[in-house]
Order: sequence, then structure tokens, then C-alpha cells
Amino acid sequence: MALQRLDKVLSLLGCGSRKQTGAAIRAGRVSVNGQIVRDPAHKVTPVQDVLLFGGQPVRWRIGRYYMLNKPAGLVSARVDNLHETVLSLFPERERKRLFPVGRLDKDTEGLLLITDDGAFAHALTSPRRHVAKTYAAQVEGRLDLGAPQHFASGMTLADGTVCRPAKLEVLRTENGLTAVEVTLWEGKHHQVKRMVAAAGGHVAALKRLSIGPLRLDEALAPGSYRELSEEEVAALRAAASEGK
Ligand code: URA
Repeated sequence: MALQRLDKVLSLLGCGSRKQTGAAIRAGRVSVNGQIVRDPAHKVTPVQDVLLFGGQPVRWRIGRYYMLNKPAGLVSARVDNLHETVLSLFPERERKRLFPVGRLDKDTEGLLLITDDGAFAHALTSPRRHVAKTYAAQVEGRLDLGAPQHFASGMTLADGTVCRPAKLEVLRTENGLTAVEVTLWEGKHHQVKRMVAAAGGHVAALKRLSIGPLRLDEALAPGSYRELSEEEVAALRAAASEGK
């Protein structure tokens, strides 16, 4: 896993702002694998390196983190007055403080992160971070020939919404449906559906395949979830801090 700056890592793991963690490092309050390190830019290896902050071990995973294969028909919210939410898939005793990271439409399937770590969720969903999200879509209708270029250059939708450059890959057309993969570096409301509509198609089915470096585990049936490993959590944190 990529090396990362010590001050940034400590801040992401809840030890304080970058300024506070930098000051603590310079003051000799932080050790890495038993050695005091006084350089905030010192590079550490997520999960492998043992960090002590003020003598206390720093855990690389500070909350609960799950990968859910969201089925169609559930809403991505903690509570909803009308519809069942994705949290209904978790036993009641596990649900406490959990929430979905960002939103998928009710009819969208696929990778949805569930956590109780607000800073982690914020880092992954902040419009300033630009973490890549890839979707598989089945598209009805005829996409414009220039659709991939249209996506790549970014587009302004009819209602004035500005979409940053995105990637559209046309995979195949069968029985009137075109299979495409779309990668976005932002997350506007119904964005895949609206961009595809602007390129002449209609999204008949949508599934999220990946968020940054994390791909949906194909062993997970729709409606099932599993805990993320420490490595997966650290890789997502790194992607959020680098914006990829
Ligand atoms: N784009 C959409 O249109 N819907 C989703 O659920 C996610 C991205």
C-alpha cells in the first residue's frame, strides 16, 4: 500500500487537525514502530506500521465499515417514512449509529459503503475530493455517436447543472440494450441517468461497481454485506486524501 505522510494519517485517524498532529510530532509525542519520529512528513505504511500518539496506540480502523451489495427497492438513508432503508438489511443490534456513505437511487444496485465513521464518509463524498465511482448501466435507445467524447469533455445539462469530465465506455449492444460503464469523479443527483439521457439514451438498469480502489465483491449476493478489511479502509482513506 502507498506510503503516506504521518501528520496526515494521524489526522485522518482522528488524532486532531493537521496542525495539531504536526505539532505533536515535532514535540516528540509520536512514535512509529517504537522510534520517536519528529518529522511530520515522515512516510508510514498503512496498517503495517505501529503508531503511538501520546503513548496510546493508534488504530488504523476506528469505526465499523461494511461493503453492501445494495439490492434495488431500498433507499440509501438511515430512516425513511415511506420506504424500507438499506439499514433494514442489518440486524437491529448492529444498526446503531450506522449510515450509508452517500446515496444510490432506490432502483440502483451495487456497492454501497455503510459506516459509523462520519469523517470517513465525509472524505469519500466531499465534492472537493473527486474519488472515482464506476457504474455499469444497461441503456435503452440509441446513444449519440459522440457520447464518449461528450462525457469526456464534461457537459452542462438542460437545467444548467454542470457535470465535470467523466468516462463512458460502450461495451456491447444486444437485444436493443447497450451495456456501458460510466466513471464519475463527483456525485450529483441521478447523475449517470441524466448524463446518459443528455447523450440520447435511457438508463434501464444501474449498478455501482467500484469506489476508488474498492471493487464490489462479486461473492456478495444482492442484499448481503461484509466487513471491510483494515487494508481496504486504509486504501479508501488514501484515495479520498489523494482524490482518485
Ligand atoms: N447516478 C444515478 O443516476 N443514480 C445513482 O444511483 C447513482 C449515480
